[in-house]
Amino acid sequence: MILIKLGGSVITDKREYRRFNREAVSRLCREIRESGKEVVVVHGAGSFGHVLAKKHALNDGYRDPEQIPAVAQVCYDVRDLSGMVVAELNAAGIPSVSVPPGSCMVMDDRSLVMDRQEVILRFIGKGIVPVMFGDVVMDRALGFAILSGDQIMERLAEFIDFEKVIFVSDIDGLYDCDPKSNRDAALYETVTMETLECVDAGSSVDDVTGGVAEKMRWMLRMSGHGRECMLINGNVPGRLRSALMGEETVCTRAVGGLS
Ligand code: IPE
Repeated sequence: MILIKLGGSVITDKREYRRFNREAVSRLCREIRESGKEVVVVHGAGSFGHVLAKKHALNDGYRDPEQIPAVAQVCYDVRDLSGMVVAELNAAGIPSVSVPPGSCMVMDDRSLVMDRQEVILRFIGKGIVPVMFGDVVMDRALGFAILSGDQIMERLAEFIDFEKVIFVSDIDGLYDCDPKSNRDAALYETVTMETLECVDAGSSVDDVTGGVAEKMRWMLRMSGHGRECMLINGNVPGRLRSALMGEETVCTRAVGGLS
């Protein structure tokens, strides 16, 4: 079983509110199908989440009543996005169902309480891929907060034994500085905790849940116990399929866990 995160930067255009990258998603779903591997899919929110979440400071938790319509709108938008992702998975021949985290889980001071494992495990047991995503989630301490897809990944990996975890992004991997503004940026083939301390991987677009360095921290956290954890560029055709099938491909691998 392989856990895949389809990042918001690949499945949406992060610069434009609610712009879905249907072509890329359709191709990535076909690559999953062609690999023949069993997967669980998590996806990001991209411009269906970050734009309004940032505008209304939703990651700060409840501050004033004017945030409430924005909470409802982001919940609507990310469910809409998830419906489109699931439509592409189903069209590619991968039976899938969207499982909105904010509709069946809560957080406690930004930590996800995942006590609904049964529904996820039963979908998997019947050969249906549960698809979870970054969402606005009610929070016991803060009223509500932003849940990232990366947090969901970590929680899922606590009760499902994934052999591999693949983060699909719009860059080839982790660079020693931002490749979008530095032409000389060098790609790390592997990163460890020590590498992470030296990188300047700031994100150049609006993102309320952190940039590439933050993603890498999540990856390192998930790379312990011999589990392979990769960051790949989903905009390059064939890379996801190669990563799934264990073939050589351009990527960054996280090694050795977080400590
Ligand atoms: C963010 O989820 C969720 C919201 C902003 C509602 P992610 O952090 O997983 O999304 P991406 O992959 O960065 O777009």
